[in-house]
Amino acid sequence: MIDLHSHILAGVDDGASNLEESLAILKTMEAKGVKKVTATSHYPLYKIKDYKKFISAKLRLLRKEAKAANINLEIISGSEILIDRKIPELFHQNQLLTINNTDYILLETHFNSLPDYFSDLIHDLKVMGYQIIIAHPERYAYIHSNFELLYRWIEKYELKLMLNSSSLVGRHGSKSKKTAEKMINLGLCHLMASDTHGSEKRPFTLRKGLNKAEKLKPGSSEIFKKNAEAVLKNQSLNNFEIKREEKPFFERIFSFI
Ligand SMILES: [Fe+2]
Repeated sequence: MIDLHSHILAGVDDGASNLEESLAILKTMEAKGVKKVTATSHYPLYKIKDYKKFISAKLRLLRKEAKAANINLEIISGSEILIDRKIPELFHQNQLLTINNTDYILLETHFNSLPDYFSDLIHDLKVMGYQIIIAHPERYAYIHSNFELLYRWIEKYELKLMLNSSSLVGRHGSKSKKTAEKMINLGLCHLMASDTHGSEKRPFTLRKGLNKAEKLKPGSSEIFKKNAEAVLKNQSLNNFEIKREEKPFFERIFSFI
């Protein structure tokens, strides 16, 4: 198993608060069958000027401590970047991290609404050659009220959608859970990751999430696993067959009137 979204670096963001907690998370992940984990700390970190240098030092430290603790898990570089107009410029200046130094970048948006510049931002990043993964779309309120947007995101913008396993197991409320289930049923996703924040608070749930996905859509957990591997190798992803939502009988009748 590969986990592409986690906050395992100690004392960086709202994830692991110290090295002990980082190691406890890694031990749990290893016991559950994770072989590789990407440390996707949040960007921006408001008090840190040189993000890349700061994260690289934290990564080196955690790799060293994990080795000393006999944890056999590869820790990979990455970042979870909150959308902002400046992102293309920051990539241009080599200030941000992609996943495993590939073309794949992990973006998150604000929870309630999308800014006007969103489509321009996506366009600019694509022109620069990046493959864009959107973190936990099932958690965004504007997706709960406008689910159809996901079709445009995949079919027009070619975005790759990454579900949180924590949503699927119900840790972010019923709307996020139902939206995650619907996205799996309709084929509107590409990846699943844990977004682990701690050993107690927001713990590792990827194995449970993959099991749930498999029950909803047989074969899906294998696609999620293969796609995670493909991201690390900078290869293209498998798509699920996308289905349109079947509208209830009365809604179909009314759409003709
Ligand atoms: Fe995250």
